Amino acid sequence: MRILITGAAGRLGSLLATSLHSAHDIITADYDEFDITDFQATRAFITQAAPELIIHAAAWTDVDGCAREPDKAVLINGYGTQHVALSAAALGAAMVYVSSNEVFDGKAAKSYREYDPTAPANPYGYSKWVGEQVVARHVPRHYIVRTAWLFAHGGKNFIQAILNAAGAGKTIRVVVDEVANPTYTNDLADALTALIATERYGTYHFVNEGVTSRYAFARYILDRAGYADTPIARIASAEWQRASTPPPYSPLENSAGRALGITLRPWHAAVDAFLDKEGLITQG
Ligand SMILES: NC(=O)c1ccc[n+]([C@@H]2O[C@H](COP(=O)([O-])OP(=O)(O)OC[C@H]3O[C@@H](n4cnc5c(N)ncnc54)[C@H](OP(=O)(O)O)[C@@H]3O)[C@@H](O)[C@H]2O)c1
Repeated sequence: MRILITGAAGRLGSLLATSLHSAHDIITADYDEFDITDFQATRAFITQAAPELIIHAAAWTDVDGCAREPDKAVLINGYGTQHVALSAAALGAAMVYVSSNEVFDGKAAKSYREYDPTAPANPYGYSKWVGEQVVARHVPRHYIVRTAWLFAHGGKNFIQAILNAAGAGKTIRVVVDEVANPTYTNDLADALTALIATERYGTYHFVNEGVTSRYAFARYILDRAGYADTPIARIASAEWQRASTPPPYSPLENSAGRALGITLRPWHAAVDAFLDKEGLITQG
């Protein structure tokens, strides 16, 4: 299949470009090719590339930046996505839109399923929700794939931040009241690869199995990477000064993917695989 990947210099996009390369004809795009907020440039590039499928992984992912500049968040994540969606629609191409658990408000008592009502509680979540709306309205053959708490090799991520702090002997404070699903980009890429072969368009929740708090996630990372004796101070979100307000309880349940036989391994196993590949695991 001829596939255009936006955000191809990003954490997920770059991995997808590599992993889909052997089986598909891949065209990559990031800022150097076009800025998604420029409709003419977006339309011209996509028309010329003539993909059968667009995987839209470009986004402004700085959630605190989005909170400080909510209009810019909607411009990139909402209207930028609309430009990609309209270009896909004009070609009759299918589209994958990578979305987020932050389209939910996090007030639930159990994991969100794919068709639960959305209610974004912060500007990043709202901008990703606008992206979902425009894709659903303009692209008949679309996949909306929500994920959460991505960790990737090579990029900025929570695992590396915790290990860097432990290595530097810093005091580590982690929130206990933010709960979701840590998700390994490699597993998400495999799930997306399987999904696009199905032509079962719709909304999906692709996260590693299991639910955890930021605190328990951090504790597991340190225990596995040789820092079992390093303490972590448990704090409440209210004590952590930041511009954005993440949804407190926003784990996703992969029910639609499971019905197709597409599941991601438990998050503990995914963290182990990540640490192992980085040569960081010390516990058997
Ligand atoms: N990371 C997570 O924990 C997480 C969780 C849930 C969902 N998601 C979603 O998953 C997708 C991939 O995330 P990721 O972590 O791979 O993101 P990422 O590493 O930040 O990559 C996004 C890419 O999009 C590019 N981009 C931003 N604005 C653009 C514009 N106006 N025009 C063209 N390119 C632009 C970025 O360039 P610059 O870096 O130069 O800005 C970057 O290369 C996103 O849709 C994100 O919302 C991520």
